[in-house]
Amino acid sequence: MATGLLRRCISRVPPSPAAKLLLSRSHSSDPGVQQSESTKNLKNFQIYRWNPDDSGKPELRNYEIDLRECGPMVLDALIKIKNEIDPTLTFRRSCREGICGSCAMNIDGCNGLACLTKIPSESSSTTMITPLPHMYVIKDLVVDMTNFYNQYKSIEPWLKRKSPAPAKEILQSKKDRSKLDGMYECILCACCSTSCPSYWWNPESYLGPAALLHANRWIMDSRDEYTQERLDAVNDEFKLYRCHTILNCARACPKGLNPGKQIQNIKSLQS
Ligand code: SF4
Ligand code: SF4
Ligand code: FES
Repeated sequence: MATGLLRRCISRVPPSPAAKLLLSRSHSSDPGVQQSESTKNLKNFQIYRWNPDDSGKPELRNYEIDLRECGPMVLDALIKIKNEIDPTLTFRRSCREGICGSCAMNIDGCNGLACLTKIPSESSSTTMITPLPHMYVIKDLVVDMTNFYNQYKSIEPWLKRKSPAPAKEILQSKKDRSKLDGMYECILCACCSTSCPSYWWNPESYLGPAALLHANRWIMDSRDEYTQERLDAVNDEFKLYRCHTILNCARACPKGLNPGKQIQNIKSLQS
């Protein structure tokens, strides 16, 4: 009965102009129309979907889009799918230019930023997109970053001084400033930490490559006067020494940084 009602309701909805156009195209014998249909560059995206408000299990859902009508990046495809096919698809994004770090996800098995990753158009007809690995999922591609941010906070990522506050800003030589290269560029996207096997197994106790990179950034800052305290704070079998120099972190970093190298520096400074 309910189905019948639904059918009657659907049958009363007049077709939209777009639907009429599609219908006429599908029945058209015009060779020009058929050619434009055949030159579509279709690409399938298999996307992890899970909604905590539904009772269903997580699933991979397929979405097919025409790459000729889409921007070149994976984020363009996600936005197109959300705008035109499924508005319930949930993901984070903001800057669209690799600055905010919010669009980090796993694309065809590699962590990366959706806005900086080109849609693989030739290697395979399907691209799989899943949340950052070994993270709690809040919904679809959105993961819970609370533990990651707390670990960042734990390294006290701000300038700490023992001397009285100066009247003017604290100057830094060019040479000292250059010691922060390879660290200050980090955008806290978590691609590195969530690609690190040691972090997968000890996410609570091992600080992970991102937080340790920032710990080293403050250890190396010539203006900071808590260098030894900072070294002592991370000198721990779990916080620091779970890093086994596998270097997945460097491969995953979309900004070309090498957190493993920074971790090595902290280890070398421990007396
Ligand atoms: S080098 Fe260290 S931090 Fe980087 S992936 Fe390997 S274990 Fe993890
Ligand atoms: S080091 Fe690279 S991968 Fe890790 S959080 Fe920073 S920008 Fe992201
Ligand atoms: S949207 Fe900001 S880094 Fe991708």
